[in-house]
Amino acid sequence: MTQLNQPATRAKWLIALSVFTLAALGYLLSAYVPPDIENSRVDVHGDRVRYWLLVGHIGFGAVATAAGLAQFWPALRRRRPALHRWTGRAYFFAGIFPSSILLIPVAAMSESGLSNMAGLYAQTVLWVWTGVAGLRAARARRYADHREWMIRNYAVTLAALTSRLWGGAMALIVFAQADSRTYQGNTVAMIHDIASSGLWLSLLFNLIAVEVHLQRRKSGAGEPAPAGSGRRRRPSRASSPV
Ligand code: HEM
Repeated sequence: MTQLNQPATRAKWLIALSVFTLAALGYLLSAYVPPDIENSRVDVHGDRVRYWLLVGHIGFGAVATAAGLAQFWPALRRRRPALHRWTGRAYFFAGIFPSSILLIPVAAMSESGLSNMAGLYAQTVLWVWTGVAGLRAARARRYADHREWMIRNYAVTLAALTSRLWGGAMALIVFAQADSRTYQGNTVAMIHDIASSGLWLSLLFNLIAVEVHLQRRKSGAGEPAPAGSGRRRRPSRASSPV
């Protein structure tokens, strides 16, 4: 089985993650930089307040996405620990926290139905909860806990991007059933189902994938065995922030 904690494998995963994240971010931001209400992908019906709340959410979300990605590169953590801390502060205080606050009205105004809205608020709560847990662990110098919580937290950040992929897959399934008894050609019902199923699947898949990864680390399954020991290494318990 793939050994995620081996440096070569981890480097490949990090490169793949970075390419996907930066490409998705570039695409998402393309409609909002520079801000122009006419280009908005969300139909805000000409409501400028709603548009600027949305742009604020996206701007802080973009800071979180980019800063969070940087934190996973081992070179930054090991060689530039001060930069790691400042990027971490940006992640929290110019990223997930302000973006989450803006999500309270932004999610309330979304028009994709109740199941989607429930998912949006569940995601926001998880974003803040795992972020606060990660921040508290770092401040208490519980660095192994901090690392685990931040991996969970970034999985929630990335769910906002991967939900677009799930949405594309759901669209294929839903539109294939457009004339079925379920939808009876009702486009609004189809769009609501695509948005909500994409969101929930993205969130669940990311959270499960992360828990599997963390459990494997704890059980030592992802750790290379010490040379000549003939046994697995004990779970790693980082005692330093880097
Ligand atoms: C993780 C928690 C997040 C939640 C719950 C969330 C939720 C939302 C909501 C409710 C909207 C408005 C949709 C509508 O009115 O129909 C939205 C739009 C948007 N969000 Fe987020 N978001 C999150 C994170 C992010 C992140 C990290 C980014 C990265 C930049 C981001 C980028 C966007 C973009 C670009 C839009 C505009 C829609 C589009 O052009 O596709 N969001 N988000």
